[in-house]
Amino acid sequence: MRSASTVDELRKTRLSFDGTVGFVPTMGYLHEGHLALIRRARDECDHVVVSIFVNPTQFGPKEDLSKYPRDLERDFRLIEPFTDMVWTPTPEIMYPTGYQTWVEVEAMTKPLEGAMRPGHFRGVTTVVAKLFNAVQPHKAYFGQKDAQQVAVIRQMVRDLNFPIEIVVCPTTREPDGLAMSSRNVYLDAEQRKAATVLFRSLSAAKELVEQGERNAEALREKMKEVLAGEPLAEMQYVSCADYDTLEELTEINRKALLSMAVFIGKTRLIDNIVIG
Ligand code: PAJ
Repeated sequence: MRSASTVDELRKTRLSFDGTVGFVPTMGYLHEGHLALIRRARDECDHVVVSIFVNPTQFGPKEDLSKYPRDLERDFRLIEPFTDMVWTPTPEIMYPTGYQTWVEVEAMTKPLEGAMRPGHFRGVTTVVAKLFNAVQPHKAYFGQKDAQQVAVIRQMVRDLNFPIEIVVCPTTREPDGLAMSSRNVYLDAEQRKAATVLFRSLSAAKELVEQGERNAEALREKMKEVLAGEPLAEMQYVSCADYDTLEELTEINRKALLSMAVFIGKTRLIDNIVIG
């Protein structure tokens, strides 16, 4: 596995690759969810590039940038068997003094995560556009776990004509249903148990759909009801929205996204499932 930090180093190795290049952007502290994306890229492409960069511009002023978990040595060990090149730029490389260019997707970044985390998606689309330009992959791999991020990046790729196929991979879960996340390490034992409430709540709503419920508000109510049953959980939002536009639905008559953000103690967790 080759490694690079500057854009020049990355480009030099990238130019030596013949055939298709698959790219998996990450912020590190990798878990099975990330590795599933990397393995999929390995299966589908001739070369696999992984980036590890905790992108400061997607964190709000009150968010966990400085304490975001990091362990590069372990990350390298985990990805080595599947990866041709790992790129670990520094904040100074990505945002040198005088940096002033931003990529912004409009309507789709307003609800849900965008409403709770102002500026978050501007940071995500800007860094992903920069990573795409540097790596020039044929395919890029993202997790359904971050459903709005996927929708926003697909929109950006269409709008800016990036010649890149976006591959969306299913959410990897712990055996008890909790979606894997680098942030799960913040949970103590009691909170870890409580955190299963997100998937339980989504599953309860999905079951209603399977029983024939088509009213979106009834699904939102069901999710809230299950969340309310967990004393350690504090709901931030629940949503039942159109899968593509992320607009809230009144009726389930097309592909829909059930999603939520919930605080367990100080840790903010998100999860979602797709209906239809
Ligand atoms: P990060 O949170 O490290 O996630 C990197 C990729 O792994 C994302 O596409 C995310 O959706 C995916 N992922 C995380 N947990 C997953 C799980 N349990 N199952 C499946 N996929 C999962 O998302 C980011 O980093 C950043 O915003 C980034 C795109 C790298 C831009 O900075």
